[in-house]
Amino acid sequence: MPLTPGRAFSLVVLGLLANPASPSAAEPPRAPAVITVSTARSALRLLAGDDGRLYQLDYGRIRERPPAPRTPSREDEFHPQYGHGYVLEPALQAVHADGNTSTDLEYVSHRTARVDDDVSLTTVSLRDRHYPFGVTLHLKAYAAEDVLEQWIEVVHEEDGDVLLARYASSAPVLRAESYYLTQLQGNYMREAELVEERLTPGVKVLDSKLGVRAHQMRNPSFILALDRAAEEEAGEVYAGTLAWAGSFQFAFDLDWNNRLRAVCGANPLGAQYRLGRGEVFRAPSMIWTYSARGKGEASRNLHRWARRYGVREGGRPRPVLLNNWEATHTDFDEDRIVALFDGARELGVDLFLLDDGWFGDKHPRDDDRTGLGDWQVNPRKLPRGLGHLAAEAAKRGLGFGIWIEPEMVNPRSELYEKHPDWVIAQPHRELLFGRNQLVLDLTRPAVKEHVLGVIDDVLGANPDVAYAKWDANRYVTQPGSFHLPPEEQQNLLVDYQWALYDTMEHMAERYPKVMAMACAGGSGRVDYGTLRYFHSFWPSDNTDPLQRVFIQWGFGHVFPAAATSAHVTDMGRKPLKFAIDVALSGAFGIDRDLSRWTPEERATVRAAVTLYHERLRDVVHQGDLYRLQSPYERPQAALGYVSPDRSRAVVFVYRLGEAAFPPVKPRGLDPARRYRVREVNLPPGRQSRLGLHEQVVDGATLMEEGFPAPLRRSLESAVVEIVAEP
Ligand code: GLA
Repeated sequence: MPLTPGRAFSLVVLGLLANPASPSAAEPPRAPAVITVSTARSALRLLAGDDGRLYQLDYGRIRERPPAPRTPSREDEFHPQYGHGYVLEPALQAVHADGNTSTDLEYVSHRTARVDDDVSLTTVSLRDRHYPFGVTLHLKAYAAEDVLEQWIEVVHEEDGDVLLARYASSAPVLRAESYYLTQLQGNYMREAELVEERLTPGVKVLDSKLGVRAHQMRNPSFILALDRAAEEEAGEVYAGTLAWAGSFQFAFDLDWNNRLRAVCGANPLGAQYRLGRGEVFRAPSMIWTYSARGKGEASRNLHRWARRYGVREGGRPRPVLLNNWEATHTDFDEDRIVALFDGARELGVDLFLLDDGWFGDKHPRDDDRTGLGDWQVNPRKLPRGLGHLAAEAAKRGLGFGIWIEPEMVNPRSELYEKHPDWVIAQPHRELLFGRNQLVLDLTRPAVKEHVLGVIDDVLGANPDVAYAKWDANRYVTQPGSFHLPPEEQQNLLVDYQWALYDTMEHMAERYPKVMAMACAGGSGRVDYGTLRYFHSFWPSDNTDPLQRVFIQWGFGHVFPAAATSAHVTDMGRKPLKFAIDVALSGAFGIDRDLSRWTPEERATVRAAVTLYHERLRDVVHQGDLYRLQSPYERPQAALGYVSPDRSRAVVFVYRLGEAAFPPVKPRGLDPARRYRVREVNLPPGRQSRLGLHEQVVDGATLMEEGFPAPLRRSLESAVVEIVAEP
């Protein structure tokens, strides 16, 4: 349950603030307290120094014999604060009620609570030496997954508001000779492009300033490799991802001692937060993993964590969707939609997802200029309503889902006519639009109520709706609220996110059977804060399978295949088998008019969906990902998934251009077991060109020698199943 500022109290911190006497004043000097937060293969060690400050000793591999702690230098402070001697990139900057721009936190206490066999939560209480201002660090360790989640809470009892000018969630120090940072950057239609660079002295900032749909140009995730460019299976690597749908800021500060501090959190730009007395400010969670065996293991750690904790119902099978967006856009009526259902079941489709365009009465949603905000069914397009469509889908054995964009409004809508002051905008400024729309101000209670009502009207009133795609198609360019008082204008972008998460939580809790996809004009909102409420995300409106190889490759560094929607479409006019094979490596779906496929094409799709349902989905979604050949190195991509018990694996190979290619070497198999190798998803009547087709080989040989990709030319692909012999 997310905390909203002012809605919850941290009694621990308030209790602590009520007693301003420093424990060190009354007690004899204490032995340095080392706080260790560990997972199966990593540890973060902190030290409460003699001077009362909290330091970081190390974060990374577990050391057999850690060096004896001594009070480190100020540059090793664990959550450094601006204004009292710390001169590098701070994690926290506060302006106190009396105007003092410095903060000086001392360690007060810590405790570790075991949540269950896997998870423990360590909280460390810090308090300003002078002001009744406290920070609680939360460090949640997921042992089996080697994941560390960190966030902070801030609360004060000062005589007036405190301005939080910076409020990072996590800011560990890393130590190596050199540092290689990989970001996932891009824009609409070319998301999650990997760019790696060696960090040089100074501060490198990766951020988003967009507020909403905030990840359009950069995902809030990175890979950080020590001493050499990131490799798949070797080297020390950290991966980090911020569970926050809003603007973020990662500042990598490489100092004169070659220490790197990674300051990670929500972006305070335009959002310096005014915190009232007794209110709790909660910063979003930063998720870390450490791997001593390359970025492959870092990704697998995150995926395992995601399936268990980070993504909604990570173990629930994802249905095969048929979406109508690319087939019809907003141009449809009841007959056209019902006609699209026909033959879907025969192809193995589980659910039809009706996209944008079904709503708006006075201002029908016939294109993207009108209707957003008016969530009544368009009576001319769909005279018998959504219930009728759901019933027609059910007759054909299909579930039925619906597209919504509940946070947004077109000026040409009944909602905007009634409530022009419900939008995010600045007074005295010309209104700026994005896709002809405006963002609703969720910090206004009536707006939040309205959005909850939209969810209830669409899902509650139509119990047959089994799926929702939640979209958000613009970002914030004028961050102002007509609701918040002048002094709280800057709280808008933070409070918006928590209110947004509340609405998503409402959907997930009130309608637990309704599965959901997060979309934001492609992947403008892909983060582990959002994915708690969603089963999958939409990586890109670019569904050209050649581009999708790269886009899915990028996202796969942080997000699991089960959450990565991948649909077969016509975009790019690539060979059908290639498009299918690319989609089979994610959460499979289709977006096109099925009747336009020839009977042979339909047979090809049907066979692939059967294969997916029966043999591939489990291993792709629940297995461990091994990236075998990077499309960034040669024009061929190969990736494999291995089931947790290593009895089954599947390897996908995509040829993207002409070159000489080394053999594809599967990884993650049991070297001692014998596996049958088989190329699957072959077009009817085509013989496999795979030399090992239907051969039984032991895991060690298979991994050592691999096999030449059974491909001859660009845009060919292969799916190779590897199954342990009984
Ligand atoms: C966004 C989404 C698309 C589609 C359209 C509908 O662009 O990314 O998948 O839903 O909106 O308007």
